[in-house]
Amino acid sequence: MQAQSVQHVNNTDRYAKAVAVSKRVRWDIDRDVIRGRAFDFTKKFLPDGLSQIDRLDFLTADEQRQLSQIQGRTYANIFGLVERFIAAKVLEVSSDHWLGDQNALEAMVRFGDEEIKHQELFRRIERMCAEGMPAGYTFVLDPNSVATAVLSKSTWAVLALTCHIELFVLLHYRESIDTDTSSSELWKDVFLYHWREESQHAIIDEMEWRRVHATLTADQRDQGVSDLIDLVGEVDGLLQMQARADADYFIKVCGRTLSQNDAMRVHEGVLGAYRWQYIVSGLKGPRFADILGTMITEPQAARIGSALAPIMN
Ligand SMILES: [Fe+2]
Ligand SMILES: [Fe+2]
Repeated sequence: MQAQSVQHVNNTDRYAKAVAVSKRVRWDIDRDVIRGRAFDFTKKFLPDGLSQIDRLDFLTADEQRQLSQIQGRTYANIFGLVERFIAAKVLEVSSDHWLGDQNALEAMVRFGDEEIKHQELFRRIERMCAEGMPAGYTFVLDPNSVATAVLSKSTWAVLALTCHIELFVLLHYRESIDTDTSSSELWKDVFLYHWREESQHAIIDEMEWRRVHATLTADQRDQGVSDLIDLVGEVDGLLQMQARADADYFIKVCGRTLSQNDAMRVHEGVLGAYRWQYIVSGLKGPRFADILGTMITEPQAARIGSALAPIMN
């Protein structure tokens, strides 16, 4: 009993701290991030550490830059999409706090509000990316149908996936801090400002995930693990579709005819980059692995490891 109330005090303090930081770092899309700027299409959009374009050494520097811009546009689209189900889940889970810890409730409400703002930011960024690109780009995924599929899974698994996403956003920001002047300043600011609010989300996600975990039976937790494996597999299926669309688009607009072998390497390179950006960087990140490790059994860890091996390697 005493241990539980100490835990409650700790958690309410952590929620209160997340609220205080959220208020302090709060930013506005136009005033702080975009600041009247347009994209400079002579610059790369994603850092090489994410786009992995430097591995495609048969492409010219201009072609690599173009491929990084296409990936940047997809990055904006993917985040517009994932933040759709994250906001919905956060608002749903907040109902556990409606008549309870008001610090937790406020933290969740701000979290949901920020994700709705991030969706708007990424829609704006996507339109600005589109302005400098030839026609023919397609984003093949629909945010609402993906969100419906994700939200049909257990809360344990959706919170795990969400925690993973929030944590890889932090890693992506770290990748974007480079002294490379060939990268877009506006894109660097997108990573910076997104990271500022996501840092609180990652903390809240972990608390919510652990809180829900504590209420479940062993069987329910095991179902959560199965759902998480399914979700990551479904994310990978979506990435395969979008990688194919983006590679085809690049091959069409790059301005020369690539050999069959080079075209195949573009396809593999884009899929590898997307898996790295949206799955592997998060799962391999130390913090996610630590959190997950405290919530699963050894057989469950082995099950996750073997199910995801084809994606991770
Ligand atoms: Fe976000
Ligand atoms: Fe977030």
